[in-house]
Amino acid sequence: MNLPRAFDIVGDIAVVNVEPDLEAAMAQKVMEQNKRVKVVVNKIGKTGGVERIQRVKVVAGEGRTETLHKENGCRFKLDLNRVFFTPRLSSERLRIAEQVGERETVVDMFSGVGPFSILIAKRRPKSEVYAVDVNEDAVSYLKDNIRLNKVDNVIALWGDVSDVCEKLGKVADRVIMNLPEGSGEFLGVVGKIAKRGCVVHFYCFLSDDELFDAGVEIIRKVFPKAKVLNKVVCGERAPGIHRVCIDFNVG
Ligand SMILES: C[S@@+](CC[C@H](N)C(=O)[O-])C[C@H]1O[C@@H](n2cnc3c(N)ncnc32)[C@H](O)[C@@H]1O
Repeated sequence: MNLPRAFDIVGDIAVVNVEPDLEAAMAQKVMEQNKRVKVVVNKIGKTGGVERIQRVKVVAGEGRTETLHKENGCRFKLDLNRVFFTPRLSSERLRIAEQVGERETVVDMFSGVGPFSILIAKRRPKSEVYAVDVNEDAVSYLKDNIRLNKVDNVIALWGDVSDVCEKLGKVADRVIMNLPEGSGEFLGVVGKIAKRGCVVHFYCFLSDDELFDAGVEIIRKVFPKAKVLNKVVCGERAPGIHRVCIDFNVG
């Protein structure tokens, strides 16, 4: 039987993406070859909704979708059916965290369970990180993860980032916009919270022929004086569709 080789591991859960008739064989192979895997789940449909959740169903092992994932020296409790999470951004998160200065104020606009925010807070204990998400479950896990990682410089805020940022004022030295399907819609919000010289990490999806001009164009519509600092491809959504981060200074 021809089984796919690729799958993700989140905590002790293997996340596979196979047709239902291959589920059982795939789960058996994964569990035999990965002794730390206690649950195998299969993806159902596509990542969807404002909360960007990829629904899964348990096909083998313990009947749960909650786990504890370790990444970059941090621990993240999460439920795959209640929040967005991908382990594939681990090195991208480190790339961003390595740029943060000692006493910066960072706004993580789409924080999820906190993988950017908590890593930054841990590496830079004198920084202040506002972590915002519209998914109440994600914010609840974020609060758990703040305690789990013993950081006291992350402020978890539940709500639509447009409303939450309205109340923050001009606080941000750095903004993380990890909502690649819609970050462009929220660049106006960045204008309300950005201090002079603020650095923004803007994520979007671009096709081969759009790299990277189409992303820079979206940014320049809102920040005509934006100075692009770096452009990286940090993953693939589908063949030929890239997850991109453009780092820029608002000017
Ligand atoms: C692609 S996920 C990124 C999560 C996290 N940064 C990570 O790396 O795991 C995007 C997140 O943005 C949140 N979101 C979507 N629209 C939002 C909005 N208008 N305001 C606040 N959060 C929003 C979703 O609930 C989701 O958790």
